[in-house]
Amino acid sequence: MVAWFTRRYLDLLGSIYIYNEHRGYTALDRVLEAVRFRYPDDHAFIAAIEKHRADERKHYLMFRRWYEKRGQMPLSVDRTCGHIDRFVEIMFRSPIDRLDTIDVITNDRLFEKLCRVISLTEKRGYRQVEILLKHPLVQHDPGLIKIFRIIKQDEPSHWEPYDGWLRANRKREPKWWEHAVDAFIHSELLLLKLPILFLDPGLRRRSDWPDAHDRPQALALA
Ligand SMILES: [Fe+2]
Ligand SMILES: [Fe+2]
Repeated sequence: MVAWFTRRYLDLLGSIYIYNEHRGYTALDRVLEAVRFRYPDDHAFIAAIEKHRADERKHYLMFRRWYEKRGQMPLSVDRTCGHIDRFVEIMFRSPIDRLDTIDVITNDRLFEKLCRVISLTEKRGYRQVEILLKHPLVQHDPGLIKIFRIIKQDEPSHWEPYDGWLRANRKREPKWWEHAVDAFIHSELLLLKLPILFLDPGLRRRSDWPDAHDRPQALALA
């Protein structure tokens, strides 16, 4: 029973992570396209986002290998488990896929909002990994511990480019209500979605890897 519980918990955790890492680097491809368009000469900013994108792809591949070693496919979780999906949906009233990236990058008000959303999401990710590294169930799995240690090391460089842009352009820091939205999304996932998915006997596995349908450009960048 304990073994089943642990395996199911880690399975769900891995599935939510692989979804979020994949969502992370594919969404950053669009941010990159837009930033290259608006700031073609800001090589440092572009390079920092490219590094962020490469790290998220690396995290995705670490979880993919973890699943390959288990001999399983991830559970089929969707965008309702994506922190950045929910954050963008709430703040922009549009799913990420329908967000007009050029609109966002050419409008300072929208771009600063996006920078705050990405920065808060990354900081949330860092704190979450710190918690998971001490989690008794996660400690059962040395492979996962290794992955979370690498993520913890990478994470601080992920919010820096967006915080840097906000500072350089004299834009404000996130306000209490933006922190509240971030906390709400996190507790919704932890207290509502995770238990429901955990107990759902009909939750299927994916039949393909999340990157099976990546745009050729995304693969080239990797
Ligand atoms: Fe990541
Ligand atoms: Fe990250």
